[in-house]
Amino acid sequence: MTIDTGKVYRLEDYRPSDYAIRATDLTFRLDPHHTLVTVTLSIERREDAALDAPLVLDGDGLKLLSLTLDGTQLPAGGFEATPDRLTIARLPKGSFSLVIETELAPEANSALMGLYLSNGVYCTQCEAEGFRRITYFLDRPDVMSVYTVRVEAPKSSAPILLSNGNPVEGGELADGWHYAVWHDPHLKPSYLFALVAGDLGRITDSFTTRSGRTVELGIYVEKGKEARATYAMDALKRSMSWDEEVFGLEYDLDVFNIVAVSDFNMGAMENKGLNIFNDKYVLADEETATDADFANIEAIIAHEYFHNWTGNRITCRDWFQLCLKEGLTVFRDHEFSSDMRSRAVKRIAEVRTLKSLQFPEDQGPLAHPVRPRRYREINNFYTATVYEKGSEVVRMIRTILGAETFRKGMDLYFERHDGDAATIEDFLKVFEDVSGRDLSQFALWYHQAGTPHVSVSTAYDETRGELSLDIEQSVPPTPLESRKRVMHIPLAIGLVGKDGSDLDAAPVDATSFADGVIHLKKRRQTVRFTGLSERPAISLNRGFSAPITLASEQSVEDRLFLARHDSDLVARWQALNGLLSDHLIETSKAPAPQSNMAGRLAEVLGAIAADDALEPAYRALALTPPSEADVAREIGSNIDPDAIHVARNTLVDIIAAANREAFEALYGDLQGDDSFSPDAESAGRRALRNVLLDYASAAQGTPELAASQYRDATNMTERAAALAVLAHRFPTETQTVAALADFEARYGDNPLVLDKWFQIQATIPGEAALSRVEGLTAHGAFSIGNPNRVRSLIGTFASSNQTGFHRADGAGYRFFADRIIEVEKRNPQVAARLATAFRSWRSLEPGRQGHARAELARIAAVPGLSTDLKDIVERTLG
Ligand code: TRP
Ligand code: ZN
Repeated sequence: MTIDTGKVYRLEDYRPSDYAIRATDLTFRLDPHHTLVTVTLSIERREDAALDAPLVLDGDGLKLLSLTLDGTQLPAGGFEATPDRLTIARLPKGSFSLVIETELAPEANSALMGLYLSNGVYCTQCEAEGFRRITYFLDRPDVMSVYTVRVEAPKSSAPILLSNGNPVEGGELADGWHYAVWHDPHLKPSYLFALVAGDLGRITDSFTTRSGRTVELGIYVEKGKEARATYAMDALKRSMSWDEEVFGLEYDLDVFNIVAVSDFNMGAMENKGLNIFNDKYVLADEETATDADFANIEAIIAHEYFHNWTGNRITCRDWFQLCLKEGLTVFRDHEFSSDMRSRAVKRIAEVRTLKSLQFPEDQGPLAHPVRPRRYREINNFYTATVYEKGSEVVRMIRTILGAETFRKGMDLYFERHDGDAATIEDFLKVFEDVSGRDLSQFALWYHQAGTPHVSVSTAYDETRGELSLDIEQSVPPTPLESRKRVMHIPLAIGLVGKDGSDLDAAPVDATSFADGVIHLKKRRQTVRFTGLSERPAISLNRGFSAPITLASEQSVEDRLFLARHDSDLVARWQALNGLLSDHLIETSKAPAPQSNMAGRLAEVLGAIAADDALEPAYRALALTPPSEADVAREIGSNIDPDAIHVARNTLVDIIAAANREAFEALYGDLQGDDSFSPDAESAGRRALRNVLLDYASAAQGTPELAASQYRDATNMTERAAALAVLAHRFPTETQTVAALADFEARYGDNPLVLDKWFQIQATIPGEAALSRVEGLTAHGAFSIGNPNRVRSLIGTFASSNQTGFHRADGAGYRFFADRIIEVEKRNPQVAARLATAFRSWRSLEPGRQGHARAELARIAAVPGLSTDLKDIVERTLG
């Protein structure tokens, strides 16, 4: 574990390395306690480096066994080696070769970075700075090398030996050992290195690229889980075709392998030719995975595959450019899922994720630009801002340039930068070059943190048929940036007439309006439309064209009208969601059980539920009121989670009672037959049915319906949803206790399914949640060392149980802080990520704020804290 030194890395300090590593030849002799790593590096001084520049290689907790320079063992005085650095001061003039031997103990590696063991399988994770835990290296993305890897291991415990690139050789060794050699012809940075060895099961397939190259595909899983990898394989093949069709990008090796492991810090990793996945994002079948799981698998398989071009062929110059690969690749996986599923539904899901994960980040102490300028620990910058807002920025480029010019820009990017370690400036430049536009103001989206706020006021001149929109933008201050510059915000709008269709209107001045998009470039702007035959309702930020917060003085009547009739389904959802949210904010501050507004909302929801012209998946989203966390975020200060909880329950009860018969009937109509398909349409019907189950159960006030859905369920989507309704609405009823026990017994041998059981119980609202969660940490299936278990039980409790975590007495925070401290000892990266659940602590009412601050301070005071956790906790405290 790297103990914090307080060192800060700055973008402006970038300079190229003095040395290049042209070739990297690795040999691993695998052993749980004594793995021997021998690396031969072919090194060259870069042209403009000083002749006497020392070679300083990165290490992290390494044990050096020997060091040879051009065939001669270096004497003790010829170098300086610490666990974290290897320095050689005197070097030959030209190129030279260095052989370094290190010894590792993968068994003892609980941080899951570098080489470690997961259920007996050797695997690696090198992004961002894990390669230096394997050997000394210039561990930075702009040092790119050709890798040849020889893996040796006992044949019995590790019959499968994998690394990047193509397999070139293999064979037997003495004492029951064997070996395999892999060669990756593509230059790559060290963070894309990977090795896997173990007794794995596999499924195989093949894909023929459009130029006729045959690629052998393999998905490796723990033995016995092979059947659950078929959906991932299908998603992989669809991803490969899609990237050819939509971006013209082909795969470039003879093999493409995916390995699923049980212990993994994040979702998955795009290592060249050998993606390694958290098994949660590979394994699925109808019995054990929900529709949401299937959708995530499809998206993440695609994401990692798409990195082959956006990340691997073109990588990042330095870690400040992380969004160059992540934002762009998220954009690409979003587009893929939109094409595979329903575009509008996918877009609404994206907006929900952005608002629930990125907005709080941008609006709290951890705010940072999409391209940060400084960091202490790069692991802490794999954030919703870099990923999700980074994707929104790419989407806005497309909105501004149009799809065709955008594609030209992407083509130029691949042509110009293939093989490069590139920057955001390089990326923006291709779009400037293909469009002839100046994107310097737009570039602020990369450089300036904070969610821009746009307010719109309108005036309609009846006699002239003229509408004017007065628009003002501002960006709130964020840590380290108090003054903000004016941004280029593409705001898509529509003017909706009485019959629900869009009205034709001409802009008075066409310079700031094109193709339905207002281009805001000034602090205040007025846009006029003329030629209107009636006063329109104004549909703003259609398709969520810009990641902003919006205030507009619109009447409730107009908003209700848009919630029913806007032809843009995303804006329609936003109108409805905004009304629900405003109502919840109001009633959480001043309870109004007889509110007239609640009745009107219930009526709109009833109409939407019954509207067969709308996809079931859309109806399911529309019928789901904002979460308690959503409402808290919108309130923004002096938050009382208990009051929000009451307000939300009250509204759900009113909607449920008002639509009871219709919802029950529709619930019955939506019952599927026993056949299962994970496709979006079938999933949408199940989603709608599950939302209706919750309303019907609320109206009936008894667990019967949920208990029978639980009993009769023919797939995990139905079963888990029924269990959630039982647990959340009727936590102490005997049917609930029985169903929880049944679920535990049925899936006791499947940790990924038990994660759902942990999650459902971690989100049962109320004071009793804490002791329940505490009790579950002692459950046999729980393990503090496994990131998926920790996130399911402890992470979910903190992020998704508003009344339980934010208990007024602070006991939720105390428990959570204790678990963070416990996890940190083994795995600083996972602990730091957990701790981000404290990020909105300043928005709470004063009592809770005090408790949260005390717990953060307690963590900060732990001696010898890792950089990961110290960085998060100190920034959160501010
Ligand atoms: N690059 C990976 C992705 O987004 C994610 C990743 C970054 C990661 N760092 C990691 C995964 C550390 C596991 C561990 O596709
Ligand atoms: Zn990624």
